[in-house]
Amino acid sequence: MCRLVLVTGAAGYIGSHCVLNLLSNNYEVVVIDNSSTSALINGQQLPESLRRVELLANNCVKEFIFGDLCNSDVINKMFKKYRFDAVVHLADLKNITESIEQPLDYYRNNMISIINLLDAMKRFEVFNLIFASSAVVYGKPKYLPLDELHPTGQSLTSSYAKSLYMTEQILQDLCTTDPKWTVVSLRMFNVVGAHNSADIGEHTTGVPKNLMPYITQVANEGRPELRVYGSDYDTPDGTGIRDYIHVEDVCDLILKALNKIISDNWSQWYAFNVANGSGHSVLEIIDIFEKKLAQKIPYVLVDRRPGDIGHSLADISLSKQIFNWEPKRDIHLMCESAMNWQKKHINGFDCIHQNVNQ
Ligand code: WQD
Repeated sequence: MCRLVLVTGAAGYIGSHCVLNLLSNNYEVVVIDNSSTSALINGQQLPESLRRVELLANNCVKEFIFGDLCNSDVINKMFKKYRFDAVVHLADLKNITESIEQPLDYYRNNMISIINLLDAMKRFEVFNLIFASSAVVYGKPKYLPLDELHPTGQSLTSSYAKSLYMTEQILQDLCTTDPKWTVVSLRMFNVVGAHNSADIGEHTTGVPKNLMPYITQVANEGRPELRVYGSDYDTPDGTGIRDYIHVEDVCDLILKALNKIISDNWSQWYAFNVANGSGHSVLEIIDIFEKKLAQKIPYVLVDRRPGDIGHSLADISLSKQIFNWEPKRDIHLMCESAMNWQKKHINGFDCIHQNVNQ
């Protein structure tokens, strides 16, 4: 039986990998994206990331809708046309630094989108939702590793984190007042890496804000050196520790969660950590790249970045237990796949058509 899912933000980094995984696992997918992160190139009908996904999957999305979730007419038209079994919401803007600089853009996009989406889902009686939340809702950790019982919404330092926290509150209230809803909030830690084909990956415009795309550009000699933000944290080598998770492991969990909420008799709100359960510091990541590439990665130690925390680490036992899920890709494969993507597509998706299998 083929199930039909709406994926929002489908042309983006996690979105494109998620669509590939769903198409490869007997789902039909309608995708919507405003292409703010993966531009439509040369008048294509599909964003480049999704064009490659269809080639890799040897399968097509049911429809790509070039539109913005802030426009409720666009959403209602979609729900009138299709009978969705579930929605995977991956359309939030997600850069912490950017959200500190442009709070209004983040509140407008992230809050209006979810309200419009939930209104349409209620109106058309689609009550299954997977929401891409983030570990940022935990704020400054009170204990480690972070489990799902850790308080949320305290000491949040960015409009990105606050918008995700507010969304989780809305979703919990919805599930409390109407038991028809089933919502799984996936609190993603640091999602990195790329599909093993290296034909899709994290497309960045301008100077990458995140560590992994930045370090691969230094390794590929696109940038002179890495600035290491903070070397005085309470960590073994003083640099920030994060719990990195491969994007394909994230998509495996999304698939398992979808299978469960569509087939099982679940109803209410659930939150789960999406991470590896192990932490690595910035200097450790640098060391991995230097050993793998047999080259030095030039870096300089500078002050902490505003809004950063020193140590983030997840307890993933609940996700493992409920979904029978286990991350399969370790930090070495995460770094290797990120590097392969950077080498093969130095300008990401901003390129003329290349033979995907090139
Ligand atoms: C990782 C470590 C930096 C860049 C991310 C996403 C956010 C959210 C949570 C999903 C930190 C250090 C970084 C650089 C550096 N993801 N760093 N030099 O800050 O944990 O947040 O994960 O919701 O969207 O931004 O990730 O990759 O920016 O930083 O030293 O040039 O690398 O200080 O310790 P972060 P990051």
